[in-house]
This record gives sequence, C-alpha cells and structure tokens, in this order.
Amino acid sequence: MKKSKRREGFSSGLAAFFATLGSAVGLGNIWKFPYVVGDNGGAAFLLVYLICIVFIGLPIMISEFYVGRKTRKNVMGAVQELSSKKGWSIIGIIGILSAYFVMFFYSGVAGWVYSYVFKILKGDFNRATAESVQQQFTNTTLGPTVPVIWQIIVIAVVSIILIAGVKNGIERITKTLMPILLILILICDIRALMLPGVKESFTFLFKADFTQLTSKGILLAMGLAFFKLSLGMGTMVTYGSYFTKKDNMFGTAAKVAISDTIVSLLVGIAVFSAVFSFNMVPSTGPGLLFMTIPLVFTKIPFGKVLLFAFFVLASIAATTAFISMFEVLVAYYTEQKGMSRKKAVILNAIVIAAIGVFSTLSVSEGAVFEQIKIFGMGIFDLFDYISSNILLPLGGLGTGLLVGYVVPKEDIKKELSNNGKLKVEKIVDIYYFILKYVTPIFLIIIFLSSLGVLQKVIKLIS
Ligand code: PFF
Repeated sequence: MKKSKRREGFSSGLAAFFATLGSAVGLGNIWKFPYVVGDNGGAAFLLVYLICIVFIGLPIMISEFYVGRKTRKNVMGAVQELSSKKGWSIIGIIGILSAYFVMFFYSGVAGWVYSYVFKILKGDFNRATAESVQQQFTNTTLGPTVPVIWQIIVIAVVSIILIAGVKNGIERITKTLMPILLILILICDIRALMLPGVKESFTFLFKADFTQLTSKGILLAMGLAFFKLSLGMGTMVTYGSYFTKKDNMFGTAAKVAISDTIVSLLVGIAVFSAVFSFNMVPSTGPGLLFMTIPLVFTKIPFGKVLLFAFFVLASIAATTAFISMFEVLVAYYTEQKGMSRKKAVILNAIVIAAIGVFSTLSVSEGAVFEQIKIFGMGIFDLFDYISSNILLPLGGLGTGLLVGYVVPKEDIKKELSNNGKLKVEKIVDIYYFILKYVTPIFLIIIFLSSLGVLQKVIKLIS
C-alpha cells in the first residue's frame, strides 16, 4: 500500500539542521545528562561519553542520514529497500519498539517540565527551600491525576504539530523554537557563572578521576550517546528521508553532534554550579534538575524570570525531541500500513498515553505503580534502561552493519557526495573505515563488558 500523495520534506538545509538539532537537543541534555553524569562521577564518564560520540555516534548518524535520504522512506521501508534479505527488517522492528518504549517515559518527564512552567507562574517557588523543592517534586510526580493530565497535554500538543505535517508542523516549530532555546540557555549560563559553586562544577565536569569509572558506567555513557543524538530508533533515517538532495550530510551530522554536546555542557555547568553552591549532592537521580534549578534561581536577582525561562526552554526541547520520535511511527504507519497521517497520530497518541501512565506513576515513593518491579527495576527505569542501553545501541549497530557491509561503497560515496558535487572523498574514506571496523568493535566490546563476559574471558586467559 503506497501513499499516492507526493512525499513531504524539509525545504532547505537550514530547516533540516534545526529539525535534526531539535531532535537531538531534548530532555536528554537538560534532565538526563546532568543526573547521569552526576551519578557516575563526572569528568571520567564525560570523556568516555565524548569518545562514544566521535567513534560510534557520528558514524551511525551519518549512516542513518544515508539510509533515509537514499531511499526516501520510513525506517522499515528503508531497510527493506536496501537489502532483500528479510533479517535486516529487525532494524525497523527495533526502531519502532524503541520509539514506543522511549515515548512511554519521555512523555511523563515532559509533563513534569510543562507543569513546572505553570507552577512557576503560580508562584509555587517563591521563597523556595531545599525541603520545599523536594516536596514540590513529590507533588508533581506522585499522582494519581496531576502528572497524568500533564502527560496527556504534552502528547496532545505534539500530536497537533504532527498532524499539521512535516513542513507546516515540524519544520515551522523547530525553526522558530530552536534559536529561542539557544538564547535562553546562554542567558541562564551567564547567571550560573556568577554563582559561588562554579569552580567546583568545572572540576567535577572536567577533571577526570578514573577510579570512579565502572563497566556499567561505560555502557551508560554509550547509551547516553545514542539517546542524546537520537540514534538507533530510525529518527535520523526518517528525518534524513526529508532532507533535500543538496544537503551536506557530513556537515549536518557534525554540526548537530557538536551543538548538542555544547548544549549538554552548558546545562551541566548551570546545574552543577547550582548543586555545589547549595551543598547538594550531584548523584540525586532523575529529580536532580527539578530540585536544583528552582532553588538557585529563586535565590538570585531576576530569579523568577530566569527560572521561567529555563523551564520554557526545557519544554521547547522536550517538545521538539518528542516530535521526532513520534514521527518515526507516523512515517511507518502512513507509508507501510497506508493509514492517514491524522489516524496514525491519534491512534498512537492513545497507545502512548495509555501505557505511559504506568511509567509516570511508578517514580515517586508511594505512587500507585511504584511497587511493581521487573528485573529489579521500576517500570519507568525499565523502559529507560531497555531502550537507551539495549534497543538503541542494537538498532544503531544494525544500521552500521547494513551500511558498512551490505551497501556497495560506491553507492555510499555517490549519495554522501551528492553525486560528486561535494568534494568529500577523503571524509567518506575515513567515515567508511571507522564505520566498518571501529564502531562495531567498540559497540560489541561495551556490550560484552557490561554483561561481565569480557572480564571472565580476561580472567581465563591470564
Ligand atoms: N535526543 C533526545 C534527547 O536528548 O532528549 C531524545 C531522543 C529523541 C532519543 C529521538 C531518541 C530519538 F530517536
């Protein structure tokens, strides 16, 4: 079943860049990055993360762009076109599954962020103390109704934008909101740099102590790299399929990876300056952002305005990233299953809300589903762990292997150089070498070591 209408796409390279950046910059930068770095000891973890971005993230991002733009299809259609062997469809299946898993918990966190904008306007953080911000976070996440209502509001907002289409919805929103987001981050950082904890935050983020690094930490760093750059889900395949034939895919990938990392660091500096200025601990877990930022900003001049700005920027980031995951499903259902765009959005929005509620109401102590543990993890943590640390890296590995070992190198050269128009021969060679030999080996080593297999083999040999 094929769509008879002409396929939509982005109108320019700049639009493609902002949409892709909008996908990469999300709650991953603002909420996840600070607390995962905080839980895992800071700089040493950060270094592993950066290595993962260069040797795993970038090559896979370029490969996903290639797969999308070459085939101009959704993730499932694209992999099926590139290889007639049925087995490769697993990449599409992993992509769709991980899109659901991530959205189940992402929609919940995005709901908390939206609700904070509202709380700030209401004045809930006037005269905030360490105890009161903690209490506010519990009130936000405990439920059973408030977090669910906010989660549904987020899903509804994203659905409306998606129904408007690729150009009128995704492109228009990301092109307007991403520059605003970047300006807001800079303003917040300038303020954070004047806090007393800045020095300690720089030491924490940039002075590596390798004794803090564990093999689990390395797996988490890799998972974070996938999550941050929106890889392994087919998001970059789907967005790549909307690129124009003139876009420079190397350039876009590099610009997105660098900007995304800078944004993460800027947020990290703001959050950890706050943590150290108010004697909090960096390893506070998922509530870190929600318990630090309100405290800092209410204690300083113009704090309320900055606090408002910060949560508005977090809401923008969450929305544009959420849009990109949801689009993976919309492209799949419209192109593979022949559904209308509207029907695909509405049906999936219902599924995401219905299952997402279980994860949202499993976070706070005393929440309705808090007691349910699967493999020793709560529902929220389970969705996060399975998607970030298993499904996304596996999906990425699959795409890397498909492009590196199945597609002829000549085809890759042709597409990445826009039919020879871009002089990128050397870069293609380096990219191809890393993709074929370095990326999969890195990925497999990290997987094995996190399972403890590598350590056992080393013990046996020595
Ligand atoms: N990159 C987004 C973030 O950092 O919040 C999350 C994300 C979007 C993950 C799209 C995966 C994805 F396919």
